[in-house]
Amino acid sequence: MSIINNSIVKAVALLNQEQIIGIPTETVYGLAGNIYSSKAVERIFDMKKRPFFNPLIVHIKSATALSEIAREIPEKAALLAKAFWPGPLTLVLKKQIAILDLVTGGKDTVAVRVPNHPVTLALLNQLAYPLAAPSANPFGSISPTTATHVADYFEKELPMVLDGGACQRGIESTIIGFENGEPILYRLGSLAVENIEAVVGPVKIITHDDIAPAAPGMLSKHYAPLTKTFLTADVAKKLTMFTNQKIGVLVFQKRIDETNIAQQEVLSATGNLAEAASQLYAALHRLDNSHLDCIIAERFPDFGLGKTINDRLKRATQK
Ligand code: TXA
Ligand code: MG
Repeated sequence: MSIINNSIVKAVALLNQEQIIGIPTETVYGLAGNIYSSKAVERIFDMKKRPFFNPLIVHIKSATALSEIAREIPEKAALLAKAFWPGPLTLVLKKQIAILDLVTGGKDTVAVRVPNHPVTLALLNQLAYPLAAPSANPFGSISPTTATHVADYFEKELPMVLDGGACQRGIESTIIGFENGEPILYRLGSLAVENIEAVVGPVKIITHDDIAPAAPGMLSKHYAPLTKTFLTADVAKKLTMFTNQKIGVLVFQKRIDETNIAQQEVLSATGNLAEAASQLYAALHRLDNSHLDCIIAERFPDFGLGKTINDRLKRATQK
């Protein structure tokens, strides 16, 4: 029997028993548990095979619940919360004492957001506690954007995936921290930098490729398909370098007219970056499941969500 179902009643019961379940959000699916249960939080790390230094995101039901989680909220953080919650923006703030060290990786800061998904907001409204939820994939692999992706990863260990359909945004939240009250972007995500800057002015982007970055979503090898992947501005030219191989291609808008392509994924025929972002991981999952010799991905325009897509594709090419 499938572990996928849409019963919020069942989800509440399992979470109240300190179990963890898959939940939908507008970005990607999460592996969720009670933030105040060390049993549940430990199980999340265990299931994801995630190192303990890599902290989790706390999901709250509304901005009014923020003071339970964080303190000393900078003015620009309040502005961003007001502008974008519920939505794909995670804020890294000073934590309240009650937040478990396990949730924050021992840091004195906590990552928090209000997800914008009707099913998960309904769920949060029936719980007496927020939910810790990293993306519902084993550490380092492609994030899930459907309930089936989650079930494929965790069928044996997970009691339930709450079905909320395909994720509307399809890429993780954008993560913003603060230094002396000024915003610093730790992870590119579903909310474009331009939108954030329109609210709080210039944002410093700190990308990490080293071993212990501020936000390990920025580890260079992350979001990676198992199939060898290349990123190029000119897919047609790259294709000429391969003969007699089963090749998958991922492009933004324009289908490549070549007979030696085994599988081709066009992310948005109309050239819409938001649509392309929403399709990216599902396309990578399909390509990775097709027993290809390699995947050639096209570089996206380097602005708006194109910047986020390029970030994920770059990480997908690193082994
Ligand atoms: O869209 C999302 O953010 C999804 C959905 C489920 O909400 N969640 C997600 O979680 O992407 P995860 O665990 O895959 O990524 C959480 C990121 C990690 O890169 C982690 O290092 C960073 O958040 N993070 C968490 N707490 C932090 C902190 N105190 N300081 C800096 N980074 C932090
Ligand atoms: Mg993740």
